[in-house]
Amino acid sequence: MADSRSQPVSQSQASSAGDQPRKRLWRPFITVLFTMFPVVAAMLVYQLDSFDPASLPIHELGQAPVVVSLRNERMLQGAELLGAGELQGPEDIAYDSTANVVFTGCHDGWIKRVRLNDSVVENFVNTHGRPLGLALGHNKEIIVADAYKGLLNISKDGEVELLTDEADGHKFKLTDGVDIADNGMIYFTDASYKYNLNEDIWDILEGKPHGRFMSFDPVTRKTDVLVSHLYFANGVAVSPNQDHAIFCETVMRRCRKYYTKGSKQGDLEKFIDYLPGFPDNIKYDGDGHYWIALPSANSVPLDIAFRYPFIRKVMAIVMKYIGRLPTEKDAGVLVVDLEGKPVAHYHDHRLSMITSGMKIGNRLYCGSVRHPHILKLDLAKENLWLSSTITTQ
Ligand SMILES: *[C@@H]1O[C@H](CO)[C@@H](O)[C@H](O)[C@H]1NC(C)=O
Ligand SMILES: *[C@@H]1O[C@H](CO)[C@@H](O)[C@H](O)[C@H]1NC(C)=O
Repeated sequence: MADSRSQPVSQSQASSAGDQPRKRLWRPFITVLFTMFPVVAAMLVYQLDSFDPASLPIHELGQAPVVVSLRNERMLQGAELLGAGELQGPEDIAYDSTANVVFTGCHDGWIKRVRLNDSVVENFVNTHGRPLGLALGHNKEIIVADAYKGLLNISKDGEVELLTDEADGHKFKLTDGVDIADNGMIYFTDASYKYNLNEDIWDILEGKPHGRFMSFDPVTRKTDVLVSHLYFANGVAVSPNQDHAIFCETVMRRCRKYYTKGSKQGDLEKFIDYLPGFPDNIKYDGDGHYWIALPSANSVPLDIAFRYPFIRKVMAIVMKYIGRLPTEKDAGVLVVDLEGKPVAHYHDHRLSMITSGMKIGNRLYCGSVRHPHILKLDLAKENLWLSSTITTQ
């Protein structure tokens, strides 16, 4: 009886005791499966994704950024917003001293004219593309590096003429920097012949040199590729002595010097390496200094990403499935002398995407590919020590 009574109990005990080890066996397996699933899925996505970032020449990236002794780390303090709300992403700035106006290219295709005497903003011409780099020509025309259209000439009467949009069988996809020499030669860059402006982040993550530095001769109308295989070729500035041009190579955080004349004609040299951020436009101020806009500072995560292609691939996948990575911060402008020696650095951790810095008199005008205004700083103000420091050097 005791047995028969205990029988069902022990049976149930037996059955539950028999299940228990099986459950115990399964539990870690299920746990592993659940934790591994995202990893396996991520690995699959990683394997199947065709995006194939390359190694950068990392020995050229340097370890630490250049040291700049003079810094203003709060450049937003005291800054005015010029054309607020009337300018959408005024990327670059060209100055016409006779009319005392600056021209700037906006996201909506408009090249706007901003009067410096009263800050009035006027529409000039719409390129129906995306005007980026601007330079004032000898006939008061504006030469435009339009990301989508190529190199344009906009006469002072507002007529638009395409100068060039392809070289060596590669159409430009992201024309972005330009300057004009005294002899009329135009020097400009195309950041990439593979990705356009909307896709620029892919070019940066891919880490392959699709950029070119070129010249356009307005007399022969010939386009020449002067330097190819550049990692996101960007802003251009012709040197005051006219024998070379400086151009920025964003991904490599450097500017390079290309001789356009003289015994060194055709030589490519280092101008400045290991910049504290990623350079965009570069402007000569007529007074012994170049002003290099840095839309984003370098950071440890970015530095690591540029060193390891697999990290850039993971970033690309994250971007595809999740969204844009918040990477830009602490933008500013680096001032260097004619030899590329850093003199001063204006920046602010609250700033992002400053894409040009132009010194006019004692004022600094900063364009931005993203913000709805031009930043205007009075360099003579006491907390912006630079004007005295620079002019006395
Ligand atoms: C600024 O200059 C423009 C054109 O030269 C002129 O029409 C305008 O009256 C000036 N504004 C002021 C406030 O001086
Ligand atoms: C731009 O066009 C204007 C008007 O046709 C012309 O005077 C000027 O020389 C042109 N500039 C270049 C660089 O082609």
